[in-house]
Amino acid sequence: MTKLWGGRFSGGVDALMERFNASFPFDRRLYREDIEGSLAYARAIERAGVLTAAESAAIQDGLRQVLAEFEAGAFVEQPGDEDIHTAVERRLRELIGPVAGKLHTGRSRNDQVATDLRLYLRRELRLRRAELRGLQEAALALAERHLDVVLPGYTHVQRAQPVRFSHWVLSWFWAWHRDLERLDDCLARADVLPLGSGALAGTPLAVDRVALASDLGFAAVSENSMDAVRDRDCVAEALSWAALLSVHLSQMAEDLIMWSSAEFGFVRVADAYSTGSSLMPQKRNPDSLELIRGKTGRVIGHLTGLLVTLKGLPSTYNKDLQEDKEPLFDVLDTLALTVPVATGVLETLQVRPERMAAALDDGMLATDLADYLVAKGLPFRQAHEVVGQAVRLAEDRGVALSGLALEEWRGLSDLVDSDVSAVFSHKRSADRRRARGGTGAEAVGEQLRRARAILEVSGTAVEGGQDAG
Ligand code: ARG
Repeated sequence: MTKLWGGRFSGGVDALMERFNASFPFDRRLYREDIEGSLAYARAIERAGVLTAAESAAIQDGLRQVLAEFEAGAFVEQPGDEDIHTAVERRLRELIGPVAGKLHTGRSRNDQVATDLRLYLRRELRLRRAELRGLQEAALALAERHLDVVLPGYTHVQRAQPVRFSHWVLSWFWAWHRDLERLDDCLARADVLPLGSGALAGTPLAVDRVALASDLGFAAVSENSMDAVRDRDCVAEALSWAALLSVHLSQMAEDLIMWSSAEFGFVRVADAYSTGSSLMPQKRNPDSLELIRGKTGRVIGHLTGLLVTLKGLPSTYNKDLQEDKEPLFDVLDTLALTVPVATGVLETLQVRPERMAAALDDGMLATDLADYLVAKGLPFRQAHEVVGQAVRLAEDRGVALSGLALEEWRGLSDLVDSDVSAVFSHKRSADRRRARGGTGAEAVGEQLRRARAILEVSGTAVEGGQDAG
């Protein structure tokens, strides 16, 4: 086996060190990006006069052959295939001979790996983006199916005020909308070409980096070679995007896990997304949602791990940077499961309006009762006090608020009249929240229209998820 860097070494590398150093087991998945980058680089150094047209053609043909071997699962790993860059070049040399050795002129694995990573990130993030839009689509459809179902809204996990189920669903749509914006932001900043930075100081070749960038579909070129070989911001941003998205998924999952318990019974997670117990025959567990919640821990862990890896690094490339790949791959793989599974859960979720209605109590209308007194001229603070006393009185008497007699109300405030009975409607309570962003029928209708419009626009924000390959 020959090393790319064998020249100055006399002794061999320790076998354990060889394994320790190798990244091929995990970075082989970059083969497409590595070869794509090399094809463009061959063209760039041909234009720079480093390769003849014939040499460039031979190298490009060879690279396409290597690509075909990977695609067919026919690539044979050899001892000494340290990483994807080494492996591709080794195979290229076997296929086309010593001219393969000209490809790496002026290039370093440092600018090469940074380029591969950005190409990979771009391709994968576009896929994750489409999946996220699918989730938003499922949320909108679920909201539309149950537009007017009312259930208790909670703060502190205590019944607070009635809300529409559709309003709850849409609350996640907006969180995911911000996630999508963050993703687009990350994609835009990743759209910068590092290749042509050499090991750290730049390239002495007359490479037109702008042309190279456009050949690879990058919007811009990096401005500083030392920054370019060190910069893993786009990986950190992708993990940070993923962590926050996972937190949102986890929070939604937590609501649904609680709501699918017998105690709530508001929803039923479809069989397709549940599992049973090996011991208790009656069990039906919402494992899909628990795993969505659970995997959030590892995603956050990977973000933390990467930031810790980066924080102590001196300038430019250090081998620590090889540790960026496994967390990134794992996070992208994890999200490729969690988001579509969450989509499936929402698409098949059974909503139980009767159970939701049964959980609505009069106490949740206390604010509306205070508003009723406010409408009769009482300052809100006093109205709050009066209704508070009514709640205590009802509790003492062991009746619901609507069970208090008119005389009992009038004992607390003579502003109360028989028209107070109209307040005891949860639907009315929800519909009173008609200002934009509220849970009233018109406001939710308006919200849905805005969400639909945004989803349509966001479908075209990234040029059709076009594959770089
Ligand atoms: N496998 C390495 C990585 O993932 C490639 C870059 C190696 N560069 C170097 N100077 N040894 O970071």
